[in-house]
This record gives sequence, C-alpha cells and structure tokens, in this order.
Amino acid sequence: MSLLRLDALDVLYGDFQALFGVDLELAENGSLALVGANGAGKTTLLRTIAGAMTPARGTIEFAGSDITRTKPHFRVRRGIALVPEGRRLFPSLTAEENILVGGVQAGPDAWQLARIYEVFPLIARCRNRRAALLSGGEQQAVAIARALASGPRLLLLDEISLGLAPAIVDELYETLASLRAAGTSMILVEQDLDRALAACPSVVCLLEGRVVLAGPSARTSRAQVIDAYFGTAS
Ligand SMILES: Nc1ncnc2c1ncn2[C@@H]1O[C@H](COP(=O)(O)OP(=O)(O)OP(=O)(O)O)[C@@H](O)[C@H]1O
Ligand SMILES: [Mg+2]
Repeated sequence: MSLLRLDALDVLYGDFQALFGVDLELAENGSLALVGANGAGKTTLLRTIAGAMTPARGTIEFAGSDITRTKPHFRVRRGIALVPEGRRLFPSLTAEENILVGGVQAGPDAWQLARIYEVFPLIARCRNRRAALLSGGEQQAVAIARALASGPRLLLLDEISLGLAPAIVDELYETLASLRAAGTSMILVEQDLDRALAACPSVVCLLEGRVVLAGPSARTSRAQVIDAYFGTAS
C-alpha cells in the first residue's frame, strides 16, 4: 500500500505558480530522494505535504486518507514531520527544550527523550546547551530529533547537509539509515546527488516546478539525473 500519494498538485504563491501537476507516490517504508536545481520547487513540495501550503488544485492522500485540506498540526499527529530548510530552532531554548517542542502535537508513536538520545548520542552530550551555542551539526541533529519527538511515519528532510562538514553529514546519514531500517519513510531533499541516490531507493527530479524524472535510483544513472536537473535531456 502506498503511504503517500500526490495527484496533480498545482501550488502557487499569489500569482506565481511554483508547482505544476506534481504526481508522486511513496510506498509504506519507502524513501525517496527529491532533487532539482535552486528554485525548482523542492521546499515548496515538502511544505505542501506538511500542510504549510495549500495546493490550488490536486490531492494529497496519506495512509489511505485524503489530507489535502487537513491542518498542519493534524498532519503531524497522523505522522508527517518536516525538518525544515535552515533548521528553525528556537535559539534561546536548550537542545532538549527544542526537542520537546516537537512532542507537543505528537502522534501515538511519539519518541521519548531516552530513545532520541540513544539514536543521537551527539545531542545527549549537549542537551542542556542553548541552541544558539550549538555547532551546525548539533543544531541539525536537534532539528531531526524534534521531528522524531512527534513520532513520524514520514520524515520530510530539507537539505540537512547544507553547510556541514562531511564527517558530521556521514554521522547524520548513518542515523537516517537506522531510522529507515526501523520502518520510517522519508523524502530527502539533498544537493549532493551521490549521497541522495545512495540513501534512497527511488529518486524524483523537479525542474521549474514539474516532475521531469521519477524512478528507482539503481536504474537511474547520475548522467540521467543531471540531464533532468538542468533540463538538458534530449
Ligand atoms: N514565499 C515565496 N513567495 C513567492 N515565491 C516563492 C516563495 N518561496 C519560494 N518561491 C518561489 O517558488 C519557486 C520554488 O521555490 P522553492 O523554495 O520551493 O525551491 P527549492 O527547490 O527548494 O530551491 P532551493 O534549492 O534554493 O532551496 C522559486 O521560483 C521561488 O522563487
Ligand atoms: Mg529549498
């Protein structure tokens, strides 16, 4: 059964149309890399799935229910959690307080702090430090942990590796792999194509708001993705 199904989504900012007829399907326990150039519409698509934007046309189905008009906090309770671009932590709250914010609208599978610190020993060490004083990698780990606190079935991850050292990105991706193995589904927006293709069994590429490529990562070459990415496919 599919966990998420998007059908012909059109999304607009005022008069400006950012997404055109986007179809997408994600299986239960599936994960998908969402790639595309700057301004292609990746963040807009994640925000639409999370309910921060309402599509002008089209439908969103999650776990068998139509959630197209469902408010964002109800989507969180149903198991959709967004890790937003730029992390968006409360700088004056501690790491732990930021994580607890994620539990406020938790669904039935909310993660307790102990489980979160087991998965992220990195933040167990700095749990009482203010978010403003954390390193970029620690902040990103807290942003993911905040999403886990709501007990997600589907994690939407927007450019988690941006500006971080490769070693810490490796560590975050190892954690994501363990979450996937435990059954969490993911849509991963990632600029590093090799990382994206290695992490997810399927890939979708957006170009100027349209899906121009969708398929299994194993049968999609890097060259095909790059052609789709820049709109240079023949
Ligand atoms: N708040 C907004 N108001 C108007 N237009 C917007 C707004 N946010 C994004 N857009 C436009 O919508 C389009 C898609 O933007 P979006 O941020 O979804 O792209 P993206 O693929 O996430 O890009 P990036 O890789 O830079 O993060 C772009 O043309 C962008 O300029
Ligand atoms: Mg973006």
